[in-house]
Amino acid sequence: MPSLSIIINFAALLATASAVSKPGYNTVNLRVEGKTKTLWEGPIYSGPRNITTAEARSEGYGPEPCDGTLPQGFTHPPAGNTCLAALDAASKLKPFTYDGGFDGEFDDFYIDTIGVDAPEDPSTAPNGNVEFGWGLLWNYQPPTYGLQWTLSGCQQKVVPGDTVLWAWIPARNERPTDSNFLKVSPATLNVKQYATGTVTVTDGRTGKAVQGAVVDGVTTGTDGKATITFHHKGFQQYKATRTGDVRSNVLSVTVT
Ligand SMILES: *[C@@H]1O[C@H](CO)[C@@H](O)[C@H](O)[C@H]1NC(C)=O
Repeated sequence: MPSLSIIINFAALLATASAVSKPGYNTVNLRVEGKTKTLWEGPIYSGPRNITTAEARSEGYGPEPCDGTLPQGFTHPPAGNTCLAALDAASKLKPFTYDGGFDGEFDDFYIDTIGVDAPEDPSTAPNGNVEFGWGLLWNYQPPTYGLQWTLSGCQQKVVPGDTVLWAWIPARNERPTDSNFLKVSPATLNVKQYATGTVTVTDGRTGKAVQGAVVDGVTTGTDGKATITFHHKGFQQYKATRTGDVRSNVLSVTVT
């Protein structure tokens, strides 16, 4: 019974994690949306740590604390879990890497590469001013510290249940604040075969309905709603997408 033993091992792992819960550690919901695919979506247990990246090392920086104690240069103990600590923990569990330089003024990393998604060549950028395409949202908002979109991964502490989203922002260089960060709700549906289910797609940042997003081939209307007919039995997963926007959280559908 291989599947049963996997479940037992997983439960044992969880029990171990909570039994030895380390100071500053907690579990947040992490999502990493790359240019063409989702690199991570789900809970991650992480906490304060020292971080080194290849780029920072090449600039002469050693391991730097990533524990939320140095927001904008003032001291803010105790050491806690952070947005970049969560990404770091996930990268160790899934085979993706990340990279970025270190800014000594902000005491933080500017993450420019996750997986294969790296900065574009400035000489071919539409406005010649590519910085990098990755942005960070904390509970769907730019973090309190650092600069908008970045430079706050180690400064922004997170509490249990927070949502941390690292996303490749498709339209950033041309229209910096225009991209929607798609959010589909509800995130789970239980429907009968050949019945319909309705979901709503919003921009997580503003809460506004998003028209023209596609979920399982159905395009949302002005109210952000898509009504989908489910023809096949079984468990299915979809994401809302729209050109220029960051794809949504996953919609899990059980059709019986
Ligand atoms: C980070 O490195 C410093 C210096 O080596 C060390 O004192 C500290 O315990 C480390 N922090 C963590 C969370 O590992």
